[in-house]
Amino acid sequence: MSITLSIIYLIATVTFVIGLKFLGHPETAKKGNFISATGMILAIIGTLFLHGFENVPLINYILIGAALLVGTIIGWLIAMKVEMTKMPELVSLFNGFGGGSALLIGLIEFNKNVGVEDSMKASASIITTILAAIIIGSITFTGSLIAWAKLNGSMKDIRLPKYNLINNVMFLALAAFATYIVLMNTDSFLLITILLVASLIYGILFVIPIGGADMPVVISLLNSLTGIAAAITGVLYGNMVMLVGGILVGSAGLILTFVMCKAMNRSLSGVIFGAFGGDSDTVAATGKSGGSIKKTTASDSAILLNYANKVVIVPGYGLAVAQAQHVIHELETLLTKKGVDVSYAIHPVAGRMPGHMNVLLAESNVDYDKLIEMDDINPQFPNTDVVLVVGANDVVNPAAHNDPASPIYGMPILDVENAKHIIVNKRTMNAGYAGIENELFFNTKTSMLFGDAKSALTELVSELKNM
Ligand code: TAP
Repeated sequence: MSITLSIIYLIATVTFVIGLKFLGHPETAKKGNFISATGMILAIIGTLFLHGFENVPLINYILIGAALLVGTIIGWLIAMKVEMTKMPELVSLFNGFGGGSALLIGLIEFNKNVGVEDSMKASASIITTILAAIIIGSITFTGSLIAWAKLNGSMKDIRLPKYNLINNVMFLALAAFATYIVLMNTDSFLLITILLVASLIYGILFVIPIGGADMPVVISLLNSLTGIAAAITGVLYGNMVMLVGGILVGSAGLILTFVMCKAMNRSLSGVIFGAFGGDSDTVAATGKSGGSIKKTTASDSAILLNYANKVVIVPGYGLAVAQAQHVIHELETLLTKKGVDVSYAIHPVAGRMPGHMNVLLAESNVDYDKLIEMDDINPQFPNTDVVLVVGANDVVNPAAHNDPASPIYGMPILDVENAKHIIVNKRTMNAGYAGIENELFFNTKTSMLFGDAKSALTELVSELKNM
């Protein structure tokens, strides 16, 4: 490899690390994305022109160029068009393509071994790396496509009888079969095809039983696996930038997976082997309907907010669905001008993707200092006059503290019931993502402001303006 290319790879690697660091804060996230993307473009161009592919026929360059062009155009169009609420689906789909690439690289590299003399064959460690790329790439490919189908609602959770046992046995069988291929030093493409198909099937079986609220954790885990698959292909090609990029994605994905597990009070094994959110018996058993609710109007809510000293807004998934981020910012600005202390309480899994509320509120230029994380805002609720819950449900459900039978029992929540008054805006009494009823709505301190978040908040703003 030329010294110039080594330097380019080094620069690209540094941009990945800096980009990742910048992605850690909403204020710098855009810049971080741009820096890393620039590094990646540099690495691609460097590889194409400086890797010493002198003997490669022109047609290969044309094919690579066409693939890059088509992929860039499709990716650009999809990313520009995607709605914020559909982002996890998109991440899942793109992730699947990453896994698919790793498995194709594994197949191509194995093919180089077919029919060659024993002395020319790849070493056992290279074959192990190739098989790892095929297995992990295949699991990530089909697993991510299933996750995508489940998130867009075209597929439901499927739990085969004894699915945990079947999955564990299949995983062990895959590992044993791959070990056999390495030990036999075989170049049989039939055996590789069997391994490939079995890994693809395992990816499907791994994800189909995993229930609703656990899907983001699984997507993050699959994302991490894609990183590992990319790192493995980096080893195959002795390519440092692929290796480091893969390790960064793998480790960042794993950290995110554990952060999400913690926020939902789920263990990783509970996510993989448990059955959260899809067990209708559990859901029915935890519903405690029968209490009475208090309805309110925009004008009564406006009076309550107008005379409050401290207001905390709790945004949730419904705020994103209604695209009410601009009007909530308007409400916040109006109240602040009237001398009210307003902040936003951010639950780590509010919405449908990590950082969903931060991204949404950043769109309407809400001041980052006003976004307060769960652990910091919870002690403030007893001194809060009014909490305005907008399109949030599970993240404020006291069943997480009070009901050991609830599937969300033990999940850390925003303790809004400790505030003096609670206004909840949602359209109906329907459940949130976890499919369970919320006692908060029946609390004597709670008033329900029914309606689409955008219209309800717009009405609230106009009432406040007239005061
Ligand atoms: P949810 O519990 O899903 O509740 C959202 C509420 O918004 C619903 O009860 C819905 O009630 C209301 N809503 C929907 N459209 C609305 C609109 N146009 N206007 C006003 N309200 C509307 O949301 P959450 O409290 O944000 O909790 C997130 C849940 O998703 C958690 O269970 C979490 O584990 C899970 N989850 C999180 C993630 C990540 S990483 N953030 C990813 C996937 C799943 P109505 O239908 O009655 O209006």
